[in-house]
Amino acid sequence: MKHSVALIGCGRISFKHIEAFVKNVDQLQLIAACDPVIAKAQEKAGEYQASVPGLEVKTYINYQTMLAELHPDIVTIATESGKHSTIAIECLKAGCHVICEKPMALSSADADAMIDTAKKAGKKLAVCFQNRFNPPVLKLRNALESGRFGQLLHGAIQIRWNRNEKYYTEAPWRGTWAEDGGTLMNQCTHSIDLL
Ligand SMILES: NC(=O)c1ccc[n+]([C@@H]2O[C@H](COP(=O)([O-])OP(=O)(O)OC[C@H]3O[C@@H](n4cnc5c(N)ncnc54)[C@H](O)[C@@H]3O)[C@@H](O)[C@H]2O)c1
Repeated sequence: MKHSVALIGCGRISFKHIEAFVKNVDQLQLIAACDPVIAKAQEKAGEYQASVPGLEVKTYINYQTMLAELHPDIVTIATESGKHSTIAIECLKAGCHVICEKPMALSSADADAMIDTAKKAGKKLAVCFQNRFNPPVLKLRNALESGRFGQLLHGAIQIRWNRNEKYYTEAPWRGTWAEDGGTLMNQCTHSIDLL
């Protein structure tokens, strides 16, 4: 039986979610795309239907209405980071498994609340840390686990990514403490996860 999945947040990164739904079409069926900007939800529904024709994908401006009407098995969340915890908690309480974009949340308290809600609801909660699956990272992990480096005493990581002015002006939430959380939360969260 296929799992039904709904996408919440249809912005810049959401095409990756659509790609994943399409690649896993034997296990997943996208049933809804939600975004307060309905044209964005319609665009994602269209992208999916172009690859998986013949399936209806409903679009919503309000994800709560979607949860109440469709009861998806899984939701994936790709909204501004500051909204992840509230939306994830609502979805878990509504009985969905949740796959949430990084950063998981913008405070430890919010992240703990998500984990606690998932445990109480008996639902899975996952965060998109796709870099764990990069070939060099997998190789390094294998080497580490097979004892190649002995006992590690110290770890450090440097991020040399560029995010120019255009990146920050593209969406009003970027660079804000409330919705983005700063570079430690937005970009470095990947490397903290790898460490
Ligand atoms: N895994 C990665 O490497 C990676 C890469 C880029 C972005 N991200 C993360 O993905 C998230 C989104 O980033 P983006 O660049 O796509 O941002 P974006 O601003 O392009 O998209 C966010 C979308 O969420 C929508 N939205 C806001 N409130 C909503 C609600 N209540 N219900 C449904 N949709 C809502 C907005 O209208 C917008 O379309 C961020 O948390 C970011 O950190 C992860």
